Amino acid sequence: MTNKRTPIRKAYSMLNLSKEFAANTSMHGLKFIAQDEASLPERILWIALFLVGLLFAVIFSWNLWQNWQESPVLITIQTANYPIKEYPFPTVTICSVNKVSTRALGHWMSTDEAKNFKLDEIRRILEIMSTNRVENEEEVARLSQLLLQANISSSNEGYENLMNRLSPNCSEMVIYCSWEGKEEDCAHLFDSEATDDGFCCSFNSIVIRRDANSMTNKRLRHARTSGVYAGLSVLLNAEIEDYNVTSSSISGFKVSIQDPKDFARTGRIGFLASPGFQIDAAVNGQTQIGNDQLRTIDLKKRLCTTTQEITLQYFDDYTGPYCQLDCLTTHFLANCFCVPYYYPVPARLPVCNLLSYPCLEKANELVVQNSSLCDCPDECTTVWYRNEISSGTFPNSVWEYPNSVLNRPEFQHLSTNYLDAYAKYLNLFQNRSLFLLKLLTHQTQKEFRQIKRLPQV
Ligand SMILES: *[C@@H]1O[C@H](CO)[C@@H](O)[C@H](O)[C@H]1NC(C)=O
Ligand SMILES: *[C@@H]1O[C@H](CO)[C@@H](O)[C@H](O)[C@H]1NC(C)=O
Ligand SMILES: *[C@@H]1O[C@H](CO)[C@@H](O)[C@H](O)[C@H]1NC(C)=O
Ligand SMILES: *[C@@H]1O[C@H](CO)[C@@H](O)[C@H](O)[C@H]1NC(C)=O
Ligand SMILES: *[C@@H]1O[C@H](CO)[C@@H](O)[C@H](O)[C@H]1NC(C)=O
Repeated sequence: MTNKRTPIRKAYSMLNLSKEFAANTSMHGLKFIAQDEASLPERILWIALFLVGLLFAVIFSWNLWQNWQESPVLITIQTANYPIKEYPFPTVTICSVNKVSTRALGHWMSTDEAKNFKLDEIRRILEIMSTNRVENEEEVARLSQLLLQANISSSNEGYENLMNRLSPNCSEMVIYCSWEGKEEDCAHLFDSEATDDGFCCSFNSIVIRRDANSMTNKRLRHARTSGVYAGLSVLLNAEIEDYNVTSSSISGFKVSIQDPKDFARTGRIGFLASPGFQIDAAVNGQTQIGNDQLRTIDLKKRLCTTTQEITLQYFDDYTGPYCQLDCLTTHFLANCFCVPYYYPVPARLPVCNLLSYPCLEKANELVVQNSSLCDCPDECTTVWYRNEISSGTFPNSVWEYPNSVLNRPEFQHLSTNYLDAYAKYLNLFQNRSLFLLKLLTHQTQKEFRQIKRLPQV
């Protein structure tokens, strides 16, 4: 642009002004168009060139504008060395694939409550309750009649109590625990928690079963440093001989690692852990802070939600997994007027009896097929725990059982020699009652990211 101040006189024509502008502007080409000595073809050539240049400028600017319109979000990594102690250790949820223990069922069959049932009938009921898969509605009607006669009803927690009595409990599954290298009492570390795979055992969770809105005021554990010795290590007893009704065709456990305040979707996203292995789960936490200006961007473009933007019907705090649980709950209530007995929803909601299971199965299928039904964005400000799993055979020939394991009542009738021999000559023994799994969970580095609105171009 011109920076020479020219006194504006009345007589000064528009033409002269334009000429002056063309001669002094930094836009290339204009100078040659306006030159007095330029010939007509010369001028036409320069005008054409100028227009082509202008066209390209517009095209490139338009592309930039479009880009900004489509993804107006900027994600920056602040540090890959965020202090681990700032964030809680993740919740580790362990679900046995065995939902009914042969021992517990045998014991239950000898009680008064069981006098109406034949063994195959009660096993079928328990199978439906643990897998939610129904074959035909007449069978369900017949079985639900039996439950009613035995005074086991879905209201007043009848289903929950039955399942609790028959499923392997946490103290039988988790037989040795250590935290930061020191042995601790597993009963204090693991609680029974409601998950999408029924009741499971979880470490460092603040959610209690059946009523997600009443959190325990337990203090969450924080790891002090990273590495194998600074995390959780547990020994699990799969007790394959005790399998009676299972939710999956494998032997062992499903394990999920997630944010302590989230609903454990172990059935859906858990990894498999089989006996005879040591599984090492290295957890990498990622913290993301979303800034408030994100709210001004359309939700479809930023793909994450800010606080208090979406309110859930049955839960106070929004998280992606709770939103999905909320959506499923709403869906089940609308179609079947009840929710499965193990859902951690407010206690006032009706619990499904066996007759509603065909309906639950259909409603669930519908949600699986139509992803837009329960579409839940994650929060912009959130913590993720990603895990890297590695494994090796366990135990090796020199491993020694901890004393607390040797002294457990279920192993007392086995001699120390037997256990030692089991460890040392693993392949010689076909007795599968003592298949162990060692699960190590520890944190690695934490990444800290920021997500914010891009400045307008
Ligand atoms: C299930 O448990 C019952 C009672 O203990 C037992 O009689 C039955 O054989 C078991 N079935 C299987 C498949 O393990
Ligand atoms: C059924 O169970 C309820 C509570 O669980 C009890 O109050 C009631 O007396 C029982 N009825 C029979 C017939 O056992
Ligand atoms: C777990 O089961 C065992 C035997 O089946 C029983 O003795 C123990 O009390 C149960 N523990 C809990 C916490 O229910
Ligand atoms: C999925 O659900 C949405 C919302 O209820 C509905 O509009 C859409 O038609 C469904 N799509 C299919 C394929 O069922
Ligand atoms: C397998 O282990 C059980 C104890 O759980 C023991 O009673 C049984 O004798 C063992 N069987 C074999 C073949 O070693």
